[in-house]
Amino acid sequence: MNILLIGGGGREHAIAWKLLQSPRVDSLICAPGNAGISQICECVNVSAGDIGGLVDLVKSRAIDFVIAGPEQPLSMGITDALAAIDVPCFGPTQAAAQLESSKAFMKDFCKRNNIPTAGYEVFTALAPAKAFLKTLTAPYVIKTDGLAAGKGVAIPETLEAAEAELEAYFSGKFGDAGKRLIIEEFMDGEEISFFAVCDGQTAIPFGSAQDHKRVFDGDLGPNTGGMGAYAPAPIFTPDMQKRVMDEIVTPTMAGMKAEGYPFAGVLFAGLMLTKTGPRLIEYNVRFGDPECQVIMRMLESDLADVFKAAATGKLVSLPQAKWDLRPVVNVVMCANGYPGSYAKGTAIDIKPDFDARPGVRLFHAGTALKDGQLTAAGGRVLNITARADTLPEAVKAAYAAIDNGVSWDDGFVRRDIGHRAL
Ligand code: AMP
Ligand code: GLY
Repeated sequence: MNILLIGGGGREHAIAWKLLQSPRVDSLICAPGNAGISQICECVNVSAGDIGGLVDLVKSRAIDFVIAGPEQPLSMGITDALAAIDVPCFGPTQAAAQLESSKAFMKDFCKRNNIPTAGYEVFTALAPAKAFLKTLTAPYVIKTDGLAAGKGVAIPETLEAAEAELEAYFSGKFGDAGKRLIIEEFMDGEEISFFAVCDGQTAIPFGSAQDHKRVFDGDLGPNTGGMGAYAPAPIFTPDMQKRVMDEIVTPTMAGMKAEGYPFAGVLFAGLMLTKTGPRLIEYNVRFGDPECQVIMRMLESDLADVFKAAATGKLVSLPQAKWDLRPVVNVVMCANGYPGSYAKGTAIDIKPDFDARPGVRLFHAGTALKDGQLTAAGGRVLNITARADTLPEAVKAAYAAIDNGVSWDDGFVRRDIGHRAL
C-alpha cells in the first residue's frame, strides 16, 4: 500500500510509527506532519483542511489508501472527495462525521436511538438559554454546537458564572461555533475514552484510556485538548466494555446505518461511568490525542490491516486484534501559556539517546525544524510515552525522561498524570 496519512500531531506521529512496522506498507507520506514525523517518513506541506490540495496529492503521488488523523478533513468531506476518485479513506463520510462536528446532531441522534447521554436543550438566543439555566441545578454544562478544538465546553459552578458564559458564547467567544449552543445536564462519575474501529456495519473494540483534560495538577484550570493519558484504566473492566458495546456502540452503528450514513472509521466515545451505568458525554470520529499514542504502543497487530479492513467493509473477517496489556502512560509537554496564548519558535533540545531509555518513546506534536534546530510550533508540543510492568513505574520513567532528556525553558507538564489509577 502507498499511504497518505493526514495530520501533524502526536496522534499522527504514533500512527505513522505503528504503520511503518507493517510489511503491507510500501510507502508512507504525511501531510503536513511535524518535525518528529519527518524523521520517519516524507512530510508534504499540505494542510489537513486543504481538501483540494490533499486530493491533488493523492493523484500526483499514486496514493492508494488514505488515513485521516484529525476531525477537520473528515468534517470537510475528505472521505467523500476520495471516494469520488475511487481511493478508500479510513475515516467517516462528512454526513457520518456529524457525530462529532455537530453536537446537536449527536444529541438528537442519541435521543432517537435511545443511547444514554445527558439531557439537553439547543439554543440560538440568550434569553431562552438563560431561562433554561434557571430550571437546572449547579454545576452547569455549556457547549458550542460546532467544533472548537476540544475547548468549547464550560462547566461553571454558579448561576451567575453560567449566565456570564452564555453571554460570552453568544458574543462570539468561539466565533460562530458558539452562537448555537447546548446546555446539558451535569453527569457525575469517572470519565473514560473508549475507541471502536468500525466499517459501516461491524464495530470492534479498539482500546480505552483515561485522559487528563484540565491544564493544571489536581484537575484544576481550564480544559485543554488533553494533558496526558494512560491505559489500561482499572475501572474499565471487561464487563463495562461489554455494556458500552451493547448499550452505546452497537445501537449507534445500527442507527447510523438505518438513517442512511453508515459509520466507518474510529468511533471515539467519551464516556461518563455513572452510578447507573455508562453514559455518553460526546462522540468523536477519530482517535483521541493523547490517548492514541498510548493505544498505538499497546497494539501488537498490524495497524495497516485493521485500517484497510475498516475502510473496505471487511472487519468481520479480520482476526482479533492482539494487545500488550502492560500499562502505558503519555505525558504531554506544552508551551507555557497553553491553552491560552503562547510563544511559537522557542528552542527545544532533546538528548540523542532519548528513546534508548527502557520503555520510553517520544512522539512529537507541535514541533518544527528551523535551520536544524527543533522548535515549538503549537500548544501541545511533545508526548513522552513510557511502558513498564506497573503504572507507577511507567509514570516514573516518563517523568525521568522529561527531567533529564528534554531541555525546553518555555515548556511545562502536569506532574500528576495517572494519579486517578495510583
Ligand atoms: P466534551 O468536549 O463534550 O467532551 O466536554 C469536555 C469535558 O467536559 C468532558 O471531558 C467532561 O469532563 C466535561 N463534560 C462535558 N459534558 C459533561 C456533562 N454533561 N456532565 C459532566 N461533565 C461533562
Ligand atoms: N483527548 C481528547 C480528544 O482528543 O478529543
